[in-house]
Amino acid sequence: MRASELQNMVRAFHLAFRLPAPERPAWPDAATRELRIRLIEEEAAEFADAVRREDMAAVADALADLLYVTLGAAETWGIDLHPIFAAVHEANMAKLGGGYREDGKVLKPEGWRPPDVAALLARQVGLFPEASPGGEARSLASDEAALGGGQPGAAAGGAPGERAVGGAPGERSAPGGGPGDRDPRVAELESLVRGEPDWLANLANAAAFIYGSLPDVSWCGFYLLRPTAAADGRELVLGPFQGKPACLRIPVGRGVCGTSLARRETLVVPDVDRFPGHIACDPASRSEVVVPIVVAGEPVGVLDLDSQVPARFGEAEARYLEACVASLIPHVDWRAACAG
Ligand code: SME
Repeated sequence: MRASELQNMVRAFHLAFRLPAPERPAWPDAATRELRIRLIEEEAAEFADAVRREDMAAVADALADLLYVTLGAAETWGIDLHPIFAAVHEANMAKLGGGYREDGKVLKPEGWRPPDVAALLARQVGLFPEASPGGEARSLASDEAALGGGQPGAAAGGAPGERAVGGAPGERSAPGGGPGDRDPRVAELESLVRGEPDWLANLANAAAFIYGSLPDVSWCGFYLLRPTAAADGRELVLGPFQGKPACLRIPVGRGVCGTSLARRETLVVPDVDRFPGHIACDPASRSEVVVPIVVAGEPVGVLDLDSQVPARFGEAEARYLEACVASLIPHVDWRAACAG
């Protein structure tokens, strides 16, 4: 559901004809991008043609078509255009006093500030539900990088044999960690999932990539928070993974996975035998790390890694895996992934 009635009409068209219409901002594939450029160019050319022919009906028709393909592009990119439009409008109204260009275009006055579109978009992605402090311009890319490179929080008290090393990656607005600091493995992971709208394909490739990116890992995969048969209940259900067959369902608050999700904290477990309630899917597993996945304040699942080597995971691995999760968040349709 979009904020504008017009975009909702175009969204209905996209859904009816199975055209891309992601809920949140995401990049479409290369062919779709080119198609959307062509559609706008074609309708703009029809508008120009109608104007030059002085055909009023054709002008109106071309304008409606132009609006339709423009809103269709917004749908294709998963952008709710109304808040962006409202910010652009507000900025345009602030051009008062800027004068006019020779051909009549309204000019920007001294000190005019452009709208903070990046911050509005970041909110739509769900990475930053709150407005950026001070309203300064922040690009989506650097926001994601900042999340990926953020410092984990102080260790919290918990069960013996466990260390909490930070909050959920999608939840923290950690400072620092600009694009230059980005772990190249995280950039590679993101290049694997960028542009692919299918959540299953993306989580499958992500599990395979992360599994292969660290030595001595015996299991790597996702558990997704999905509805249970019991009314209103939700539990973690096995998702895409690499390794031996694993436990299918984990209640929230149980095991390392359920505890990490309930607390919204990354848990590093150097010795699984010392973690009360550890669920032993593979008896050979000796250590474990779990990163919760929280999108726009909503827990949606966990990323879980096991190793047969004691104390295999430390703070460096936890931060790397948190960065992986943060970079995955905008490229996965979590609503679909968590549907029962
Ligand atoms: N050990 C986990 C269960 C999942 S498996 O490790 C794949 C836990 O205690 O939650």
